[in-house]
Amino acid sequence: MSENNVNRENPSKMAEGMAMQRFGESVKPEDERICYDPYAVHFISPEIIKFGREHPKEAKVKVEQMEKLFPGLSSSIMARVRYFDDFTKKSIEEGIEQVVIMGAGYDTRAYRIEELKDIKVFEVDHPGTQSFKIQKIGEIFGSLPDHVVYVPVDFEKDTLGQKLLDNGYDSSKKTLFIMEGLIMYIPPKAVAKTLLFIVENSGKGSHVIFDYYPESVVDGTCKLEIGTNIRNHVAEQGEPLQFGIKEEKIEDFLTEFGFSRVQNVTSEDYKDLYFHGKNENRDVCELLYFAHALVK
Ligand SMILES: C[S@@+](CC[C@H](N)C(=O)[O-])C[C@H]1O[C@@H](n2cnc3c(N)ncnc32)[C@H](O)[C@@H]1O
Repeated sequence: MSENNVNRENPSKMAEGMAMQRFGESVKPEDERICYDPYAVHFISPEIIKFGREHPKEAKVKVEQMEKLFPGLSSSIMARVRYFDDFTKKSIEEGIEQVVIMGAGYDTRAYRIEELKDIKVFEVDHPGTQSFKIQKIGEIFGSLPDHVVYVPVDFEKDTLGQKLLDNGYDSSKKTLFIMEGLIMYIPPKAVAKTLLFIVENSGKGSHVIFDYYPESVVDGTCKLEIGTNIRNHVAEQGEPLQFGIKEEKIEDFLTEFGFSRVQNVTSEDYKDLYFHGKNENRDVCELLYFAHALVK
């Protein structure tokens, strides 16, 4: 572990946790699930899958315990996957020419969104997690797909821009940058450098989409119990929160970098969008926001 107790030598536990969430949603009937990821199961350790199959009651109790600790968070994360999927599909319709998925973890958009298969997708992640993903993708598909370029980057140490350019990224193209479950885990300086790179090195009509927690969750001043629980839990996993955005300051934050048409998506917004019928009574977590903006 490094000085601030960040552990990135092994594949990310948080990335596996996200795959588990997507797997849990994907096994639900079609009219009950918010998002669908048929490949998520491959990124979960076999012991966990075995435990779920052999001890379904105990597994259910564990899920209920997590829901008590983090009320609504799981549903917010499922809404995030769906919202980012929908945004990606809309961007493709609008003529996006390349996609950069930062902190990709076990994101499977490049493999499950059919229309993305004709577009170059750069998956950027820490080498500790990315090498495991590459191995799994090879196992699932028999070979690595031609349209995906894997770019190993440690946002705390490496120069993202140089690594992307070295791997064939084209700064003149209309690009979609996806940062899902990432910016809260990297230091403010790395967030700023990444946003600056996007602003200065992408073609007209490029967009960024990401999610964030309010700063109070990250600095420990959040009054809600779930805020403290989230902060403590991720720190225990060796992936502490490092960056948040002041409440109601998302527009100022992004326009200062040069972004425009900033859209903030609250838990109320995504609850209204996706949670109908059988999902109407599912709680979402008010602390998880999404945001997207136009580069130029
Ligand atoms: C919570 S996971 C999210 C993964 C994926 N985007 C998803 O939503 O399923 C966070 C991801 O950020 C990556 N990450 C965190 N800090 C990083 C850093 N300093 N450099 C590179 N990647 C990092 C981790 O490797 C992990 O894949």
